[in-house]
Amino acid sequence: MSDFDSDEFRRVLGSFPTGVVVVTAANPAGEAVAMTVGSFVSVSLEPPLVAFLPQKTSSSWAALRASGTRFGVNILGNTQEDVCRAVAKRKTDKLEGFDWSLSAHGNPRLADAIAFIDCETQDVFDGGDHDIVVGRVKALETLRSHLPLLFFRGGYGSFRPGSMAMGTGISSARVAQLDRIRPHMERLANDLSTEITAMCMVDEDMVTVAAAGTDRRSARNHRVGRHVPFMPPIGGVFAAFGGPETEALWMSRIHDDADDAARRNFERGLEAVRESGYAFGIGHETGSAIEIASASGGLEPTGEHRRRLSAAINAASAHFNTAQVERAGEYEFHSATAPVFDRDGACVFSLTVWGPDGLSRGTDVLAVFDKLTRTAESCTSELRALAS
Ligand SMILES: Cc1cc2nc3c(=O)[nH]c(=O)nc-3n(C[C@H](O)[C@H](O)[C@H](O)COP(=O)(O)O)c2cc1C
Repeated sequence: MSDFDSDEFRRVLGSFPTGVVVVTAANPAGEAVAMTVGSFVSVSLEPPLVAFLPQKTSSSWAALRASGTRFGVNILGNTQEDVCRAVAKRKTDKLEGFDWSLSAHGNPRLADAIAFIDCETQDVFDGGDHDIVVGRVKALETLRSHLPLLFFRGGYGSFRPGSMAMGTGISSARVAQLDRIRPHMERLANDLSTEITAMCMVDEDMVTVAAAGTDRRSARNHRVGRHVPFMPPIGGVFAAFGGPETEALWMSRIHDDADDAARRNFERGLEAVRESGYAFGIGHETGSAIEIASASGGLEPTGEHRRRLSAAINAASAHFNTAQVERAGEYEFHSATAPVFDRDGACVFSLTVWGPDGLSRGTDVLAVFDKLTRTAESCTSELRALAS
């Protein structure tokens, strides 16, 4: 006898958040069978094993089992609540209306899944009113850079990563450095009540690798993991402090549509960044246009999304590093960015503070510049002390 009932069991266990997968197989008639599963888990690396736990009475599990000894695991992204619900509810034609194709091992693979795993059933163990299905991994791939769909206390959501090392392409040495500068980012975020982000250069793009605190804009769209093209006028800190090759790369990325005035702004802006030790953007409309274009293309925008993002960045040519911030003035303060150097003097991160809505007084903006550069200097001292 237990001193709790099944409702309480469900309620308490529902406090454990899970990812969501759709387990699929093709039956002998070539039709897709599928089941929505939250109990998926990675089991063993050597040999490579995964598992999921279907209810013994589930008709979806019966159909998967009857289809043979292969199954596919589609890890759902946060854009896929519809397929999650449809597969959980429907009795037949589970994937009807969703884009899928057969994997190399003959299992249905959803086009929008964030990752896919082909498996061979290795064992089915008894687990009370559920079975414990262990699958041997035959093939696996990451498909999309979207964040995952999560299930928690009966509701769906996603998560906002505070920092994201995997998938952003940064080395483990860089992750260790990030660990050291995080407390400084947290302190500044608390002090200024906004979001502080850290960026790295990865494969000639800028990638946001960590964030602390929140601001109005990031509350709607997470920034961590996002790639942005390294091109004028943004990324001035890496261009100014990243060495001649990085500067040359930046200048070579000037948008085709940039006119002579824009080119002069970039050159002057770069000098200003070098002199002051920070880059900054003024103007909410142009800043938001970049944010919106950047958020709409997934974490790594390609093709048309990337072209639109480049155009939005180019349109901001007069808004970065060009204004003279006066104490008595008022400004639409969008962002400010300062460099962090490693013990060899290489610019490894840039720290960005995101400005508030509306107008800020010049004195306040100058105070933010000051606090940001001091925080970036503390981060540099931190990295100097870090054994390589
Ligand atoms: C987010 C989510 C996670 C689920 N996880 C599991 C699971 O791990 N095991 C299971 O047996 N059923 C799970 N279900 C329920 C099945 O997807 C499905 O709704 C149930 O098996 C319906 O019964 P049927 O298979 O007889 O149609 C989950 C449903 C949802 C929406």
